[in-house]
Amino acid sequence: MSEAIEALRVSLPRLRARLDALAEIGAIAGGGCARLALTDDDRRGRDLVVTWMRDLGLRVDVDEIGNVVGTWPPDGSGAPVLTGSHIDTVATGGRFDGTLGVLAGLEVIETVIGAGVELARPIAVAFFTDEEGSRFAPDMLGSLVFAGGLALEEALPIRAIDGAVLGEELVRIGYAGPEPCPALAPRAYVELHIEQGPVLEAEGVTIGAVTGVQGISWTELTVTGQSNHAGTTPMSMRHDAGYSAAAITEFVRRLATELGPPQVATVGRIELHPNLVNVVAARATLTVDLRNTDATVLARAEERLRAFCADLARTEGVAITSRALARFDPVDFDARVIALVEEVAADHGHSTRRMPSGAGHDAQMLARICPAGMVFVPSAKGISHNPAEHTDDVDLEAGANVLLHVLLRLATR
Ligand code: GLV
Ligand code: MN
Ligand code: MN
Repeated sequence: MSEAIEALRVSLPRLRARLDALAEIGAIAGGGCARLALTDDDRRGRDLVVTWMRDLGLRVDVDEIGNVVGTWPPDGSGAPVLTGSHIDTVATGGRFDGTLGVLAGLEVIETVIGAGVELARPIAVAFFTDEEGSRFAPDMLGSLVFAGGLALEEALPIRAIDGAVLGEELVRIGYAGPEPCPALAPRAYVELHIEQGPVLEAEGVTIGAVTGVQGISWTELTVTGQSNHAGTTPMSMRHDAGYSAAAITEFVRRLATELGPPQVATVGRIELHPNLVNVVAARATLTVDLRNTDATVLARAEERLRAFCADLARTEGVAITSRALARFDPVDFDARVIALVEEVAADHGHSTRRMPSGAGHDAQMLARICPAGMVFVPSAKGISHNPAEHTDDVDLEAGANVLLHVLLRLATR
């Protein structure tokens, strides 16, 4: 590659300006964002990013599940080198999760355009629908449909936790596009993302070369007991859905401790009915999130949860039904992409380490159809899915420059 291309660098002020502007949409106290998938704020965020794509002269394609791809050059043909991530957030999200990958991708393309780089194949940046999965499960839904892992007809009827239907919300916000899903496979996919964990910061390392993503199992449990008077019902005669939800919560914590790292287990949502101070709860709905890099141990954790719920149903005299919300095996990224990320980071003088991802990412779905990998940058104190999520400018810039040169090597050779 020519020295002029090797010397190219992204503009941190431009990247920062876009990060700040997008963070104003759905802004919440503490500097974070709430842009749950396919809400009005998600639409406003989408419209802004699409405007930026058009202003740069990219061809903008929207597919049937609402994924948006901006391609340079606009008349480019053949499989592109793709980057991207998501701009939806959890309801109490930060300003970097997902948006960094999308806006760094845009910044990379602006840098390439500005330098007049001759590409051997197009470079494209995507934002995928509903990566978070907190409104519509499963997570990584748009990239899953993009990669052919879930049929469009099965995705469109999915109901949100607020009762909305995914396909109707896509139409309502104007993002039910014409491009077919599954999409044609890109040449390669590389995603920049904040680590969302504490490892890079703790070790003083700037760039993570991500080796893969751990397996994810999401289950919604519904406990049906009997509501009764809190003052008159003897403890021995209760069929208490509230107690059952608490027992399950306590069990999954114990389970993760017993199995040991890297097993993690979370009850993130509990709803009780009727949810009143003096009524034994008749119904509880709760979610269990289990993750492990080892598929066998993850399956064992799921089996232990099933057995615990069966026992609890018997002893408490409640019914417990379960519904799978998401189930993805661990994913390994492409060895060549991992090595390329390391090589570019080292060429730029950055410290690097290989690491698995604890969070789910669109890259794990793209890995089904093309060589895929990821670049991680540090998250301050390992905090994410929290308005306090933060990554220092110097790390944003390092990550975006590594992304630039990984994409350039893939698109010019
Ligand atoms: C999704 O991004 C998740 O890891 O929960
Ligand atoms: Mn993310
Ligand atoms: Mn997230």
